[in-house]
Amino acid sequence: MSDWSRGYPVDTAYFDTMQPEISPFRWRPALLTARFAPPSARRFRFLELGCGSAHTLIALAACYPEAEFLGIDFMPEHVVRARALISEIGLSNIRVEEAGFADLAATPPEAPYDYAAMHGVWSWVDPETRATIVELLGRWLAPGALCYNGYNCAAGWAAAAPIRQIFREAPAGPAEDRYGPARAAVADWLSYSQTPALEAFWAQLSRQSDGFLAHELGAKHGAEVWVSDLVRDMAPAKMAFACPCELHEQFDALFLDGARLDFIRAGTAQGWTQTARDLAYVRTFRADLFHRGALRLTTREMIEALRALPVIGWDRERGFGLISDLPVKDTPVATPEITAQIAALSQDGPHPIGTLVDGLDLDAQHGLQAVLVQLIRGNLLVVRPPEEAAAAQDGARAFNAVAKHHLEAGRNLLPGLASAQTGGVVIVPKALQRVGFGLDTGTPEQLDWLGQIGLTAQASPT
Ligand SMILES: C[S@@+](CC[C@H](N)C(=O)[O-])C[C@H]1O[C@@H](n2cnc3c(N)ncnc32)[C@H](O)[C@@H]1O
Repeated sequence: MSDWSRGYPVDTAYFDTMQPEISPFRWRPALLTARFAPPSARRFRFLELGCGSAHTLIALAACYPEAEFLGIDFMPEHVVRARALISEIGLSNIRVEEAGFADLAATPPEAPYDYAAMHGVWSWVDPETRATIVELLGRWLAPGALCYNGYNCAAGWAAAAPIRQIFREAPAGPAEDRYGPARAAVADWLSYSQTPALEAFWAQLSRQSDGFLAHELGAKHGAEVWVSDLVRDMAPAKMAFACPCELHEQFDALFLDGARLDFIRAGTAQGWTQTARDLAYVRTFRADLFHRGALRLTTREMIEALRALPVIGWDRERGFGLISDLPVKDTPVATPEITAQIAALSQDGPHPIGTLVDGLDLDAQHGLQAVLVQLIRGNLLVVRPPEEAAAAQDGARAFNAVAKHHLEAGRNLLPGLASAQTGGVVIVPKALQRVGFGLDTGTPEQLDWLGQIGLTAQASPT
């Protein structure tokens, strides 16, 4: 470990990964529902802190050709991998620089940024580095800017603190099995601890590679975070909590039973809604948006903006487009009849949400609720207005052409593809990528929906 690391585990490079939830367009339904006016959807400046090999940021740069992107990371091997992909795709609206957060905090930007994002950073760095990040955000972000933060949430991680501690204290194994002793010690401990929930959590975590666990559990300062502490820490940058970045997070009644909903209501009455929600869900990860004085919307403005969002018919079984895989409860506005009506109305889309609402035999308020429930169920997908998607087509094609080339050449598979229509990353299993790229035969239905989000051979030239 060297001085510049500030306790971050820099001896193992992070793997290439992509986060679909980082996307200015994808954040829009949640922001609007929480009554915030998002910054411009086309011309904006976007900063990612601790971008790793920046595959998410690169896909975004491909999908927002009029915007400018800057990624920074202090590990040179990440920067090298990012730059190689940028030049392979041929993008000119993105830079990835080797820099620490302290370097940026010390200098003003050439122009302020409208968006910032950090994923897998906040809960892995030391308190001093967090303070530096806040200083940086206060200096680099424009009034009205938004900041995305994806971090480990204390409610679900607190019980797993012993696992983290074992990983810190158990000696390293041989290079090819570095965490062997730690993995074995956790398994031994769990065998008598009688904590079934924790056993299930470890069953998932233990499937991850040593490279992932090095960052997830091996970071010296790795710590779970309560959202209220984050809210306090962000205040010096004049940033306040806006909402979780995914729409479904504002609809707890669709997911939770009565006791949990009562618990959240009581927490809300006392002013600690988000912590109560985390406890009710036993949440291990949060992905939140903070704002720097963003404009608030009136109810009427919110409804108008939501009604204007284009949607296409979708199916949650397709496995992407959704972050939550929690089952959605039945509601009076999601009867089989209303569900079928919305499915029929959304065919041959995109159609604005308002068109679907107006086609239902429900009043405007219940109609909007009914459509939002179908969105949350994954039966609809929000897509960008056609002119925005068209402007992004060339960039997304160039990104996906490189992904196809990697696939054919047996090179490292890109973890996701870029969709001009959804405005960001989509994670597509390898078999489906091959169908989309015309390398394998798919069903007409598969080709139809892959085409709707720009992932077919026609959309991705050789
Ligand atoms: C867990 S990785 C997440 C990478 C990427 N955001 C993602 O989600 O795939 C955290 C990243 O933060 C970077 N990082 C940590 N501390 C940093 C610092 N003080 N300055 C710049 N980058 C830092 C690391 O090099 C690493 O790439």
